[in-house]
Parts: sequence; C-alpha cells; structure tokens
Amino acid sequence: MNKTIALIPGDGIGPDVVAQAVKVLNAVGEKFGHHFSYKSVIAGGIAIDKFNDPFPEDQLEICRKADSVLLGAVGGPKWDFHDASVRPEKALMRLRGGLKVYANLRPAVMFPQLKAASPLKDELTAGGINILIVRELTGGIYFGDRGVSDDGTTAWDTEKYSYAEIERILRVGFEAAMKRKKKLCVVDKTNILISSRLWRKVAENIKAEYPEVELSYLLVDNAAMQLVKNPAQFDVIATSNMFGDILSDEAAQITGSIGMLASASIGDGTGPGVYEPIHGSAPDIAGKDLANPLATILSVALMLRYDFKLEKEASAVEAAVNSVLDSGWRTADIAGDPEAVRAAGKLVGTGEMGELVVKALGV
Ligand code: IPM
Ligand code: MG
Repeated sequence: MNKTIALIPGDGIGPDVVAQAVKVLNAVGEKFGHHFSYKSVIAGGIAIDKFNDPFPEDQLEICRKADSVLLGAVGGPKWDFHDASVRPEKALMRLRGGLKVYANLRPAVMFPQLKAASPLKDELTAGGINILIVRELTGGIYFGDRGVSDDGTTAWDTEKYSYAEIERILRVGFEAAMKRKKKLCVVDKTNILISSRLWRKVAENIKAEYPEVELSYLLVDNAAMQLVKNPAQFDVIATSNMFGDILSDEAAQITGSIGMLASASIGDGTGPGVYEPIHGSAPDIAGKDLANPLATILSVALMLRYDFKLEKEASAVEAAVNSVLDSGWRTADIAGDPEAVRAAGKLVGTGEMGELVVKALGV
C-alpha cells in the first residue's frame, strides 16, 4: 500500500515525538511491505512566527490532499499574548473544521505496567480503566455564533447542534460500542440545556438499530464524579464538543498514563483523519530528548487502523509498545521513580524509546 501522510510537528515537543512516530511508520512499511511518504505542514506557533498566521490555507490544502494527518502538538507560552484570531489553537479549529473530522476518539486506557501512576486508589482501578470517549469535534459551542457587545461588557458563545450532527456522532458511539463491551453512555446536561434534549431524542430514535448496545444517559456533572468514583462502569461515552474536551482530560488523568494516550479524529471516511497524542507541547522539555514518544506512536497505530484499515499493522505497533513497557523501559514521565529506573539502566530518552519500539516490531 502507498500512502502519503501530512506531518504537522507543530511546537514544543511536537517535532521530537513526530520524528519517532515516523521511524515507527517506516519500520511498519518495511516489515509489511507498504510505502509511506510524507509532506511537512507548518502550523501552530511556528506558523505564527513565520507567516503571522497559525494555519495558512496552503498548509491546510496539503492536509486535504494527504491520505492521513499526524499532528504533534501546538501552542506554548510564547504565543499566549496573541488575540484569539492568531493563537496557535486556531490552527486546530481550522484543521478540524477544514477536514470535517467530526468524531474525536479518545481512548483512556490504563496500562497495567503503569498502574502505580494512577492517582486513584487501587480498589477503584482494580477493574482496570478502558474507556473510549467519543467527542463531537466540529460543532457545538466551539463553532457556534459568538460575539461581544459594542461596549465590550457582554460576550457570548452558543451551543447549537443539528439533528444530523448529533446523529452522525452518536452512530460513531454505537458502532464503537458494538466492537467493545456494547455499552454506550450519552453525557449531556438535559436538566438545563435544550440542545441536550435533542441529543437524547436522537439517541432514543436510533437506539433500536443497535439492540445489542446497552444505552444509558448521565448528566455531565454526575459523569465527572462517576469517572473518579467507579471508572470501570464505563465503556463508550459519547458527548458534545465541550463536555468531551473536559471529560477526556479527566479520563486521561485517572489512568495515570497521560504521556501514553493517543487520539483519532475522523470524518465520514472520504478524507484524511487527524491523529495526535493527547498531551500538550511541553515547551520546557522541547528538543532535550526527554519527551515520551509513545502516545504519538500509538496514534500512528490508530491511523493504520482507521484511515488505512491495516488492523494487523496497528496491532503490531500496539504489541511492540506493550513489549517495550513489559521489558521495563521508561521515559522520565512514566518512570515513577526515575532514579531507580536509571540505576536499573532502563531510563531512556525520546530517540531511544522510538528505537526500542522499532526493534520490538522486529525490524
Ligand atoms: C484538546 C485541546 C483543544 C480543545 C484546545 C487546545 C483548543 O484542549 O484537543 O482537547 O479544546 O479542543
Ligand atoms: Mg482539551
């Protein structure tokens, strides 16, 4: 298979981790007989520095033409003083909206090897944590009407969803549940928001098409509480753009594996998806060979699975990451006690971690 991948290294540790993910992709190509080629895309703070625009149209066009997009991270304190229209985050909005990747899949998985890093008590994580958050990504308050009154004393953003937008994201949730433990929890704020009531109406209307899926609803405040109280109760959570933003950070944090978590943003399958680690740009450790590349490498596994339908290859990457962890190799962020890991000769940097995964793939 021949595929072209747009690479958006972005800011901070983005370039560090994307470089390792490319190594792994090349190794997958070699092992399984595929050819991956790459196109560089400049977006985020680095694009503000260069073009005074976080994501110029021609850069988006490169992404549109690619078979898939791999993103490192964007943003950093350097650009925080910019007004909203030229902030690095604007690049993400244009990328998501421009490629119409309306479904953001954020698996929050506790790696058993890193269980000690979970902030939750052992008894709460005994059942493991394996939640898939399906977040709506191109609608709701992130994209709704907004404004400021002429005198600057009032400002507003709008949560607005159409039936069709809700239906397509809920279908992603139902389909995902079918491939997992067949449980779907729709999270909303139906007691207050009229838009949430439409979410429930759509869910009720389509649930008969997925008779095997056990459908439940939770109000978002309760969902936030349940995530720390009993995370094992969740399988798939489907929710709006903003609730998904918030709950996915919470779900990631309770796994203790934040440096390990990947994400996929996909549309209707006619264009490329966007794959990225869920962690940020960590500018303090950028370029120092300290960043953990595993979340980006695991994002590549999701790319192989969803955009290229290469399940065997995706599983091979995931197995390689697990075997590296099983052998005790750790970057500092997942070391627990880095000095003890260093003394055992198992503390590695970004580049070596990438190499270890390549070796574990048997290339
Ligand atoms: C995320 C991030 C972004 C979001 C920010 C950086 C705009 O928090 O991907 O979760 O809110 O979507
Ligand atoms: Mg977020």
